[in-house]
Amino acid sequence: MDSAEFSRDPYPLLAALRSRGPVQQVRTGNGRTTWVVTGWAEARSALADARLSKDTARYFADRPGKRNLAPAVSRTMLATDPPHHGRLRKLAMKAFTPAAVARLEPRIRAIAEELADALAARGSADLVEEFAVPLPIAVISELLGVPEADRAAVRRWSHDLFAAAAPDTVDRASHALGDYMTELIAARRQDLGDDVLSGLIAARDEADQLSEAELVSLAVLLVVAGHETTTHLIGNGMLALLQDDALRSRLRADPGLLPAAVEEFLRHDAPITLATFRFATEPIELGGARIGAGEVVLVSPGAANRDPAQFSAPDEVRLDRHIRTARPDRPERPNGPGRPHRPESPPRPEQPNGHQCPNGPQRGRHSEGPERSGGHLSFGHGPHHCLGAPLARVEARIAFEVLLTRFPGIRPAVASWDALEWRRTRLMRGLASLPVTLGR
Ligand code: HEM
Repeated sequence: MDSAEFSRDPYPLLAALRSRGPVQQVRTGNGRTTWVVTGWAEARSALADARLSKDTARYFADRPGKRNLAPAVSRTMLATDPPHHGRLRKLAMKAFTPAAVARLEPRIRAIAEELADALAARGSADLVEEFAVPLPIAVISELLGVPEADRAAVRRWSHDLFAAAAPDTVDRASHALGDYMTELIAARRQDLGDDVLSGLIAARDEADQLSEAELVSLAVLLVVAGHETTTHLIGNGMLALLQDDALRSRLRADPGLLPAAVEEFLRHDAPITLATFRFATEPIELGGARIGAGEVVLVSPGAANRDPAQFSAPDEVRLDRHIRTARPDRPERPNGPGRPHRPESPPRPEQPNGHQCPNGPQRGRHSEGPERSGGHLSFGHGPHHCLGAPLARVEARIAFEVLLTRFPGIRPAVASWDALEWRRTRLMRGLASLPVTLGR
């Protein structure tokens, strides 16, 4: 399967890999081998396994001649292990709690409505370029106080950082983002506002919890981690909606179902489909595989989310799997071929870091709360569980609501689904464009 075909539809290949076993060794393009985790239970356990490290500096220190991650992202929480990881994460956590994000909701809605106004002025649009891209960029830029004039450049650098581009381009983008954030932080320090970046600067300067380089890295991580992923959630979700007239009508009639739809779109088409990186610090056994010390383990949220041992009819979009109604204690019983039954919703939901949910098992409607322990792995799991998940959920819910309400006659404007263009990146899956007619 070539990379264009994989970008268009990676799921047959991921399913074929999983059918050989939940943890498989594969040969990569450059002739090396790597482990890929495709089973849901194995992926969830790997994501929280302290013997699997994300400390890329440590990984590359033992491999002279190999390049570490780009400097602007190699000092972040995403590339460190506990306990150091907790120190880096703690400072940013407050800005992204569900309560903090709920306060942003009116502004997110206003941005989404402004974008919809611009679309409404015309009969057709590219939903990716004109809605799914600018919404998350505007939101995270406002949060961090990135001026409007700089947003196109920030977008280009972030894009280059993740795109399957030449190493030089990645390095240039990483340096440009690092330099940009260094200057932005220096300027903001002279004139602190009420944005997230000002809060981080004040917290650092008061308590000296972070080095200046760590602060720059954190700001770069926040600006890049949040936008392309959220763009793909909105783009892939709109594609699922355009492919299903009944689903569109159901959500338009009952917007209370939107949070469940967001969860199902995350599960069905994970923006980070292929891989999150880890390496083994000691020999471990996972899903029947023996992984040697130093070997790379790629955990695939996209594959795990479609594991038939965890989700029945995993290739189908079904809101109902996220809606707990009268009998949350009686989940449906998916049966995987030759593997033990694992229900979609075990009885005690957990918070991402292993704390028990204070509200007990969810009853009634789904809410934008912490992960259920039987849910998708699109935001990861364990100590590195996505910090921006509450923000991404709210942005996507508002995006779908605004688009469905403002454009009830929205229709795809492509000759066939196969004609759609997908972005070719190393880790993510998302549409490069989604042409639509907006109707009335
Ligand atoms: C971590 C996915 C949106 C900030 C992660 C991880 C995943 C993920 C899978 C864990 C990686 C691993 O364990 O190796 C997503 C998806 C998003 C999204 C699918 C949108 C749909 C956001 C947003 C922000 C953000 C909006 C911030 C504004 C972060 C940060 C981490 C992270 C800071 C690192 C957490 C840590 O290492 O402790 N994300 N993300 N993400 N995400 Fe997101």
